[in-house]
Amino acid sequence: MSSFLYVFTVVTFPLELNPPRVVVRYRDSVSVNCSTSSTDHEGMGWEDTFGGTSFEQDVNIVTWTVDNLTDWTIEPTCYITLIDSKQPSKVLPVILYKTPDSVSISVLNHSGPMVEGTQYQLQCDIQNIAPLQNLVMKWYKGNEPLDNVTYSTVSKTPVDVSDTLMISPSRDDDLAINLDLFHKSKTLDGFEWSTLKSPPFSLDAPKFLLGNDTVVSADSNVSLNCSAEGNPSPEMKWNYTAARNVKLSTEGRQRTIRITTATSTNAGIYICTATNRVGTATRTTTVTLKGIITDRLRVMLW
Ligand SMILES: *[C@@H]1O[C@H](CO)[C@@H](O)[C@H](O)[C@H]1NC(C)=O
Ligand SMILES: *[C@@H]1O[C@H](CO)[C@@H](O)[C@H](O)[C@H]1NC(C)=O
Ligand SMILES: *[C@@H]1O[C@H](CO)[C@@H](O)[C@H](O)[C@H]1NC(C)=O
Ligand SMILES: *[C@@H]1O[C@H](CO)[C@@H](O)[C@H](O)[C@H]1NC(C)=O
Repeated sequence: MSSFLYVFTVVTFPLELNPPRVVVRYRDSVSVNCSTSSTDHEGMGWEDTFGGTSFEQDVNIVTWTVDNLTDWTIEPTCYITLIDSKQPSKVLPVILYKTPDSVSISVLNHSGPMVEGTQYQLQCDIQNIAPLQNLVMKWYKGNEPLDNVTYSTVSKTPVDVSDTLMISPSRDDDLAINLDLFHKSKTLDGFEWSTLKSPPFSLDAPKFLLGNDTVVSADSNVSLNCSAEGNPSPEMKWNYTAARNVKLSTEGRQRTIRITTATSTNAGIYICTATNRVGTATRTTTVTLKGIITDRLRVMLW
């Protein structure tokens, strides 16, 4: 009879980090445990740029904690001193991330109305974001995806970044440009994507809320309003034959003409023009005066 004794020695690394890696928002707190399965050791501890924890004896777990993490290049390391003086260690992978201080979209080298069929360059500026390689920019026109931008440059510290998009407005475009920014920010078993910020941006040609109009007035005081929507807010202008009894004013988003003591010379067409850098719209108001004694008639009566 013979018996065989098999001895399996499983050599395991003596340190385990929990969680094994962390993704931390800039200035957030973080806490990671380092535990050991080794029952026989001299002691263990953490080291980092702030000094870490002190070397502790007779423990099998040490915790690394930072209340307000701001060190972009931190590399916390847990170590253990074994009885044979060997000192294995494990580095905690840390991704410190930061949402941008500002995100803005502008039209490059252009002012005044946009012309149909001409190309324009939109630029998005993102300030102070980290890490850049975790950023995905998605441009949309309405719901239609236009472009996806990612970065392969690896950088731990915050950077400023810009992206440009060529657009060519057409008559039916409302040119609503949306930009979604995605940033890898959380960790479970890997990363999760989250939307950082989607700044609203649209360029809309001016649109009048009301169509052409006819005002029939029997009153000698007439007021005509003109208001249009658009982005940027359109500039409103009335065109009419100059007359001393016409006053222009702006009330809220409405440009108003007031005709006081109207005479027949005030009858006619008043044109309101709304202009922004996307385009121009016009609306006419025809003024008819009824029962108002005209100057000439007044003279005749006199
Ligand atoms: C770290 O260890 C402490 C004490 O053992 C425990 O209360 C805490 O939940 C642990 N934290 C993590 C992230 O596992
Ligand atoms: C972190 O520290 C900064 C100043 O250094 C402070 O303004 C901020 O409130 C702190 N954050 C937290 C979460 O304590
Ligand atoms: C408004 O009037 C102008 C000129 O009087 C004309 O060209 C235009 O087609 C009119 N718009 C509508 C919607 O009727
Ligand atoms: C213009 O606006 C004024 C004040 O907002 C209002 O009293 C007037 O009735 C309006 N006129 C027309 C023609 O809509």
